[in-house]
Amino acid sequence: MNILNNKVALVTGSSRGIGAAIARLFAQEGAKVVVHGRDTSAMSSVQADIERAGGKVMCVTADITKFGEIESMRSQIEETFGPVDILIANAGQNLVMPGPFEEISEEGWHATINVNLTATFLTIKSFLPGMKERKTGNIITISSAAARRPTSRSPIPYTAAKAGIQILTQIVAAQVGPYGIRANCITPETILTERNQQSIPDEQKQSLVEMHPIKRLGTPEDVASAALFLASEDAAWITGIILDVAGGSVLV
Ligand SMILES: NC(=O)c1ccc[n+]([C@@H]2O[C@H](COP(=O)([O-])OP(=O)(O)OC[C@H]3O[C@@H](n4cnc5c(N)ncnc54)[C@H](OP(=O)(O)O)[C@@H]3O)[C@@H](O)[C@H]2O)c1
Repeated sequence: MNILNNKVALVTGSSRGIGAAIARLFAQEGAKVVVHGRDTSAMSSVQADIERAGGKVMCVTADITKFGEIESMRSQIEETFGPVDILIANAGQNLVMPGPFEEISEEGWHATINVNLTATFLTIKSFLPGMKERKTGNIITISSAAARRPTSRSPIPYTAAKAGIQILTQIVAAQVGPYGIRANCITPETILTERNQQSIPDEQKQSLVEMHPIKRLGTPEDVASAALFLASEDAAWITGIILDVAGGSVLV
């Protein structure tokens, strides 16, 4: 039997990268998958992959920093697939490069906190009441290895936002465990998404590999497998954890 048989899974930010890999794997495991993003042509391509493999999928768009748009997206999903059983709050991005603290602009700070920490808060805020009412649900948030291991080269607003996501997830886990809801957080190290494949020069990729006890960089599929485990009944007694998917580069 498929691991996620007929569960409704929303993966925010699944038009590409890690989210797209999670969407493909979850559909393969029998979930009804909701692909989300803003780029409709990228979303259509993920949808086509899933349909070709015989999976069930719908697409929704929403700016994840706007609560009204998230609420409309939720209504659309509930009308088509029914309530969301598995919420993967994956959408996010780093908008400010590492540099001296005093050079971080206010705009860069606010925009980065918004698209990572606030977006995760707003997404959970929209879907949690229904999960509590139904007394079931599974939430997985995506932080980053950057927020497990602060260094002088950490991208400051992104690292702070991602650290916030970890604590927020643990508080949610503590609050809603009695309602049969689990909440866990995945912290990936550099993942070879399409974007990183193109933007990280080959020499830098090699020096990044050297930082990992397991001598390679991660793939979107590495993160998807971890998400599948946390979403499955095999993880029924696991909540509030921060799971490093990092090839051993974060040893805490
Ligand atoms: N890749 C890594 O090395 C790495 C490492 C650690 C953590 N992470 C985290 O993992 C998650 C996925 O990363 P990724 O590398 O796969 O990202 P990516 O390839 O850049 O894709 C980001 C996704 O988020 C969506 N998104 C961004 N801002 C949005 C907004 N305001 N409203 C709606 N959707 C929005 C994008 O949608 P559209 O493109 O359709 O607009 C896209 O689907 C992020 O939270 C990231 O911080 C990534």
